[in-house]
Amino acid sequence: MKFILINDVFGDYKNSCKYVANEIEKQLNNKPNSTFILPTGSTPMVVYDELSERDLDWSKATTYNLDEYLNCPIKEQTYEYFMDEMLFNNINIKRENINFPTDGDLNYGLDVDLCLLGIGTNGHIAFNEPGSDFDSETRIVDLTENTIKDNSRFFYDISEVPTQAVTMGLKPIMSSKRIIIMGKGEKKKDILMRALHGDITEEVPASILQKHKNVEVIYCD
Ligand code: PGA
Repeated sequence: MKFILINDVFGDYKNSCKYVANEIEKQLNNKPNSTFILPTGSTPMVVYDELSERDLDWSKATTYNLDEYLNCPIKEQTYEYFMDEMLFNNINIKRENINFPTDGDLNYGLDVDLCLLGIGTNGHIAFNEPGSDFDSETRIVDLTENTIKDNSRFFYDISEVPTQAVTMGLKPIMSSKRIIIMGKGEKKKDILMRALHGDITEEVPASILQKHKNVEVIYCD
């Protein structure tokens, strides 16, 4: 595994996002029908801004989003809405090539060229919370109190945060050919360090990445 400390290599958050956007651009140029796994959350937002401003051909590409809330009462808080606003409405991807785990596809997100991940403060990737089976498939999960609290910053009130989601499993995520995981801010530094240098344990779901051959870890303040 390569461990890139972005502060040393790229300078700051904006530059690290540019780096990630460049890697996605290269992937698309080398293979127009590439498949990508994409995250939501605050961390990748500037990556999506960058990509939205570039004149890239997404017409043959396929995307799989990592997760989606179940029974989200507010349309604007769904991850599908977030992705439309942040990226899909701004690029020429075909609607039928955009996938969410709520679609019910049993082979969801297998054989992906490039997977971009964020990380939760409890070490989750997608909504694979601590204790998730390393062999887990795409499925419905209960969100932990920690995640509900973290995500409540996007809602008016914590009671509005959905308590369940559909998440891509750790097994399909690990089947990606290449993974880039990003963490921003002090809290993420601690958990990234635990995930990358600590025990490989289901209590820290992101620690499974130590078993993958092609992962880049990007941390920025
Ligand atoms: P964040 O979320 O990018 O909003 O910090 C990441 C995650 O919980 O996976």
